[in-house]
Amino acid sequence: MDLVGHDFLTLLDFTPAEIGGLLELAADLKAKKKAGIPHDTLRGKNVALIFEKTSTRTRCAFEVAAHDLGMGTTYLDPTGSQIGKKESIADTAEVLSGMFEGIEYRGYGQSIVEELALHARVPVWNGLTNEYHPTQILADLLTLRERFGSLQGLKLVYMGDARYNMGNSLMIGCAKMGLHFVACAPKAYWPSQELVTRCEEFARLSGGSVTLTEDTDAVAGADAVYTDVWVSMGEPTAVWEERINALAPYQVNAALMAKAKHTAVFMHCLPAYHDHKTAIGREMGERFGRAEMEVTDEVFTSRQSIVFQEAENRMHTIKAVMAATLGA
Ligand code: CP
Ligand code: NVA
Repeated sequence: MDLVGHDFLTLLDFTPAEIGGLLELAADLKAKKKAGIPHDTLRGKNVALIFEKTSTRTRCAFEVAAHDLGMGTTYLDPTGSQIGKKESIADTAEVLSGMFEGIEYRGYGQSIVEELALHARVPVWNGLTNEYHPTQILADLLTLRERFGSLQGLKLVYMGDARYNMGNSLMIGCAKMGLHFVACAPKAYWPSQELVTRCEEFARLSGGSVTLTEDTDAVAGADAVYTDVWVSMGEPTAVWEERINALAPYQVNAALMAKAKHTAVFMHCLPAYHDHKTAIGREMGERFGRAEMEVTDEVFTSRQSIVFQEAENRMHTIKAVMAATLGA
């Protein structure tokens, strides 16, 4: 695997061998970290972290991973830079390329991170756009590999809003890596037919499959049940009502998990609305008379839940992406 100088914008751009290589590298870096073996092979380099949307995991993962690799970081928050307001993406790319060896970008349209990458002279990494969340998928695949030993043939059922960043990216990652991916959602929340067609071809080559269904019985035989928030960052508060109406039948609860294999795991990219202990969870929960949204607290806190292992693996996999593209 030689990814030096590459951008990391969407898993569509990577072969199964390259994705597998990044997972191997992440597992190796994780083992080194756990054993206390230094791996600061990128000493003297610096990376810029642009966040036009908020973050806990992705920001912390990039910062800790960069520090472990010996690099410095500069965080540009959603309000504290000129990007897009007083300075174009192209000009920003030029400026940052003169000071940094790599640039992470979290924001809105995929076209923005693509424009940044087009004009940057250093690797650009997608930390989440409306369309894709590729670093999250690497963490999810590493977590599944740790749990089940291999990825080939696993059945992953994604419940809920499957037409946004998580649904799209999981479908791509699963199709490329030989998993059986099922999007279980109302038709209006299925990924675009164009992307489904591309993923069906990836699945044909990998031995996986892609299924779209409105029937929650599709969870039968699942090794992993995955969900995400019903309303994503950047979407207007006004859509909560329609989302709750459309997606409530697709909530991950104990009855749904009982349909999956008894060895099945519950996954979520986080953050999750599984109780009223967040401002938005409480406000929307009280307004619509719900204690929980996309997942019940019972499932979230159950032994089947591997959500915090996924969260930790964000750091190891993001470290692998930076190490591979910067040539550590
Ligand atoms: N999963 C994820 O991207 O989390 P953050 O929004 O906290 O970065
Ligand atoms: N779909 C969610 C993912 C958060 C990690 C969002 O975009 O807000």
